[in-house]
Amino acid sequence: MKEHVGRVALGVAGFSFAPRNRSADLATIRAGIAAGTAILDTARAYAKVDAPLYGEELAAEAAQGTSAIVGTKGGHSRTGATTWDADISAHRIRSDVETSLQVFGRERLDLYYLHRVDLAEQPVEEGVSALAALRDEGKLARIGVSNVSVAALERAAAVARIDAVQNHHSAMGRESLDVLAWCEANEVPFFAYSPLRPSAAVPSPRLAAMASARGVSLQRLQLRALLASSPVLSVVSGATRPETVLDSLAAESEPWDEALEEAYAADLKV
Ligand SMILES: NC(=O)c1ccc[n+]([C@@H]2O[C@H](COP(=O)([O-])OP(=O)(O)OC[C@H]3O[C@@H](n4cnc5c(N)ncnc54)[C@H](OP(=O)(O)O)[C@@H]3O)[C@@H](O)[C@H]2O)c1
Repeated sequence: MKEHVGRVALGVAGFSFAPRNRSADLATIRAGIAAGTAILDTARAYAKVDAPLYGEELAAEAAQGTSAIVGTKGGHSRTGATTWDADISAHRIRSDVETSLQVFGRERLDLYYLHRVDLAEQPVEEGVSALAALRDEGKLARIGVSNVSVAALERAAAVARIDAVQNHHSAMGRESLDVLAWCEANEVPFFAYSPLRPSAAVPSPRLAAMASARGVSLQRLQLRALLASSPVLSVVSGATRPETVLDSLAAESEPWDEALEEAYAADLKV
């Protein structure tokens, strides 16, 4: 994505699973868009048992009439109260994309990912070829892969240009560093999902002290640290309240300096 779209995306998973107030959630997401969230992140899998398209419908309604880009994902859907399937066959991906086009009421989707890539189960090539064909047909503007290893990414990129990668990578977790390095080397945008998880299990005492001294939240500094760690990285925030949405967005403009850099680096060694 060459255009500047901001580096704090807002994910709708947290709005999609638990019983919540839909209109309040819509207002929260719209407040985020009004304050600068230019990318929403959703998926076919962000569903309620009795509302299998809930997460896409919520993002579609929130984005309507705005310039927000919406990333969505297929090949993974909810099949019951505690069960999800995974299938990146060409037939399934095409069918999921057609459904998403209907949900969004658009002829072209902004960004579409294979949600789960598991090389032990299915070759990544078939799903990526299906997405690339849909991009060639004009139905997808950009294609991406999520939950990938470097090996899967290399195989995917040998089939078609990959426009975005989305993996778990958190402030103190440092997951997917090899995948992030691949994205840097290949200039591919990397979206770090669940950027604050795990948080309770991993202490960050120095960053917490800096947050307290600055009068800002630790979470804001953790997101800022992630953004500072790589020029290709954006975070997908899971904030679900207006306060936390706005606080997460503020991470992008939070000043970053040597003292913070040192505090973050020292915390990583704890
Ligand atoms: N591709 C995939 O397989 C995949 C998997 C998981 C997630 N995702 C994407 O990533 C998104 C985020 O995931 P996540 O929900 O695990 O994200 P997260 O941002 O790491 O965690 C969300 C939690 O952090 C809290 N929080 C967020 N910002 C905060 C702030 N500034 N101050 C205080 N607390 C804050 C939220 O609290 P409140 O609820 O109180 O705001 C919520 O409890 C999902 O919505 C989804 O779009 C993708």
